[in-house]
Amino acid sequence: MAESFDVKLEDTEYTPDSSYLKESWIGDYQTAYQRFLDDPDAFWADIAGELEWFRPWDRVKDWKHPYAQWFVNGKLNITHNCLDRHVTSANRNKVALIWRGEEEGDERVITYRQLYRAVLRFGNALKKLGVKKGDTICLYMPLVPEQVIAILACARIGAIHSIVYGGFGASALNARIRDAKAKIVITADVGNRRGKRVPLKSIVDEAVVNAPSVERIIVLRRTKPQLELYSEMELDFHEIMENVEPVCEPEVMDAEDPLFILYTSGTTGPPKGIVHTCGGYMVGTYYTTKYVFDVKEHDVLWCTADPGWITGHSYIVYGPLAAGATVLITESVLDYPDPGVWWRIIEDFGVTIFYTAPTAIRMFMKFGDEWPSRYKLDSLRIIGSVGEPLNPEAFEWYYRLIGKSTCPVIDTWWQTETGMVMVTTLVGDTMKPGFAGKPIPGVVTDVVDKEGNPVPPKIGGLLVIKEPWPAMMRTVYNNDERYREYWNTINTYYTAGDLAVKDEDGYIMVLGRADDIIIVAGHNLGTAEVESALVSHEAVAEAAVIGKPDVVKGQAVKAFVILKLGYTASEKLKSDLTYHVRMSLGPIAMPSEIDFVPSLPKTRSGKIMRRVLKAQEMGIDPGDISTLEE
Ligand code: PRX
Repeated sequence: MAESFDVKLEDTEYTPDSSYLKESWIGDYQTAYQRFLDDPDAFWADIAGELEWFRPWDRVKDWKHPYAQWFVNGKLNITHNCLDRHVTSANRNKVALIWRGEEEGDERVITYRQLYRAVLRFGNALKKLGVKKGDTICLYMPLVPEQVIAILACARIGAIHSIVYGGFGASALNARIRDAKAKIVITADVGNRRGKRVPLKSIVDEAVVNAPSVERIIVLRRTKPQLELYSEMELDFHEIMENVEPVCEPEVMDAEDPLFILYTSGTTGPPKGIVHTCGGYMVGTYYTTKYVFDVKEHDVLWCTADPGWITGHSYIVYGPLAAGATVLITESVLDYPDPGVWWRIIEDFGVTIFYTAPTAIRMFMKFGDEWPSRYKLDSLRIIGSVGEPLNPEAFEWYYRLIGKSTCPVIDTWWQTETGMVMVTTLVGDTMKPGFAGKPIPGVVTDVVDKEGNPVPPKIGGLLVIKEPWPAMMRTVYNNDERYREYWNTINTYYTAGDLAVKDEDGYIMVLGRADDIIIVAGHNLGTAEVESALVSHEAVAEAAVIGKPDVVKGQAVKAFVILKLGYTASEKLKSDLTYHVRMSLGPIAMPSEIDFVPSLPKTRSGKIMRRVLKAQEMGIDPGDISTLEE
């Protein structure tokens, strides 16, 4: 990786109508940022003070690099702020969740009060099964209200949830269940996807083999006739809610007690279990929902992610509910039954804040302008993007076709590890296509070289975060050493692992990962995971995987495979390997190309040089190859 490099920047700008800024919660960027700089702890205390605590904190933070504690000795329960706070106010009957299935007309609308009651019952049901504060529960569910109920019920009783995206395969699920030693797995019989049924429960059956920590499997049964439950280990989601007390007092959590583990891909080895805690995460997600997404009383927020990713944790569940917003969720994918379905949903439900991923935007561009043009999108007020760089072409399309050249586009940069949005262009500020924007008030970032020296504008470098923030991860589960690496690689900064460049105004353009993480359609994949899935096939001796630029997905997986003696390359074997990866890791990890090769470029110490493969593939200079073996 080059230490710093020149980058050509574009200079288009758009400034939304001044009413956006005037009416925004955050107000002027400079003023808000200065308020933070003047007294960082007071800044965060003010925000935390908008929420309810069972016991106030003694100190806003204790920072002993690289370990932070936020809201020290503060006691809370995040569900008290997401539910009780609203059901004891005029918001009691406000809609918390709108769910839309894949079929037109398949809808459920749930008020705060209804959600509250369901969460309390499910919390009691979990307690009755012996779940205690600190136990880990794995969720592997479709995007239905019961998923949100289960998430909040865990938080209610102090159990740590580990949500695994329903698109992952059995071996990925197994690895996550085992690492977190999950006591219970909550799933559904099926998820719906493009008119087909994904057999989630069968995948769980496969995944719990060799997972001795699992005591029970709770199944949401959606189909008729009902899926049969075979053993005492298996329980029905709704039945266990029946004979329990309706009242479930929130567990009193310390601000630093863990709230959840969420696995994200690592460059090497197995996925990392990112640990977030109750207090800081609550404050960070609440703050960004209110002050970055600028959520107001009548907004309908639609974040198209799944709760299986951090985006869903923070901006479907915790942030919006803490802020008392109305949240739309749907099982609907963007092009089924036709590429107009998401625009129809916006029109039908009057969505005002829409938050999606660049890969989705690029898919829509491919489908053509006629699709969004058929629908009334004038309810939209703010549109956002997350997950990978929003390239200027996609920005322009999104801004004009969806935002009608009036909605602010918030391109938000953040990570599973950061828990909350870190860099963006605040609502009302001047937007620069291609640039995410500036660090939000409360966050201190920079672009630096390998030694940690800031690089001048227009010179690329590494994106770092210089100061702790409330929603930062606290450790990597079972691997604190890996946690420390984040803070010890460049100076004393948090190294995000992304390449970036700033312009003269301090706007940051994120260029992509600096390591071996591939971002396919906004989903983070480690080369190591895909390689080990390939190598687990009987025909494969060795494998190397790279991300190859893809106009729609951002990156696609390309695999180079050395076959074992006795196996011959064939198209059939290619599709077998693709299927094998799909079954173990899920569809997102599927290679779009496989090359059979006699050898792989390696360093003398035996490490595969993916950079060389990538350069070869793209016809560019591989850079320094002095460590290459041959
Ligand atoms: O490379 C950056 C990219 O996604 C990575 C984080 O992935 P994950 O932990 O899965 O979280 C994704 C959702 C928060 C980052 O290191 N990324 C995320 N947002 C952006 C982005 N790259 C460019 N621009 C963004 N807005």
